[in-house]
Amino acid sequence: MNREPLDTVTRERMETLNRHKSVGIWFTGLSGSGKSTLSCLLKEQLQALGCRAYIIDGDSIRQGLCKDLGYSIADRTENIRRIGEVTKLVSDAGLITLTAVISPIRSDRDRVRDLFEKGDFIEVYCKCDLSICEQRDAKGLYLSARAGDIPEFTGISSPYEEPLSPEIVLDTGKHSPDECIQQLLSQLMQRNIFSLNA
Ligand code: ADX
Repeated sequence: MNREPLDTVTRERMETLNRHKSVGIWFTGLSGSGKSTLSCLLKEQLQALGCRAYIIDGDSIRQGLCKDLGYSIADRTENIRRIGEVTKLVSDAGLITLTAVISPIRSDRDRVRDLFEKGDFIEVYCKCDLSICEQRDAKGLYLSARAGDIPEFTGISSPYEEPLSPEIVLDTGKHSPDECIQQLLSQLMQRNIFSLNA
């Protein structure tokens, strides 16, 4: 028997109502590469344009939903699986989801991509040399990792697999956050995620 779907408020209808697409914008990169900073700046800009956005940040998710997980590769895979599912749910609710997580393993990120329709997952690689992240060391974690106090630290004693073909690359090692945000906004506009008269 062919049953009509109960939920008739489709994604298209939400997007028309909101006047922006319901996409997942996924910031990946080393610790200290600017993922959280850029997600916050982008949310601010989107808000000013009348878009609805929500941030999912690895640091805060690890205090709740994923507090049972550590930093082994298997635990990171599970972390990203859960965060990917939540990112999809929040996007389905009509928001532009801004997810900021190291997500060091390429296949984990690709599995998240597969949850989305083509074009609805935008991988933003925050490209920054380890030496610069380490020099900035905003949280003091690199110092501890080098001292051997934090095992399996990304870039030091645990791998980071660069994206091979991310939708957007931001050279966060060379450009200021404001410059990166301008680049990001213009690329999102080219992709018709939102328009200036939203
Ligand atoms: S991920 O690798 O599973 O994607 P996630 O983005 O959730 O990582 O969390 C990374 C944050 O956890 C870092 O910003 C840092 O503050 C903290 N952290 C603590 N231990 C580690 C570690 N061993 N490697 C990387 N980040 C760590």
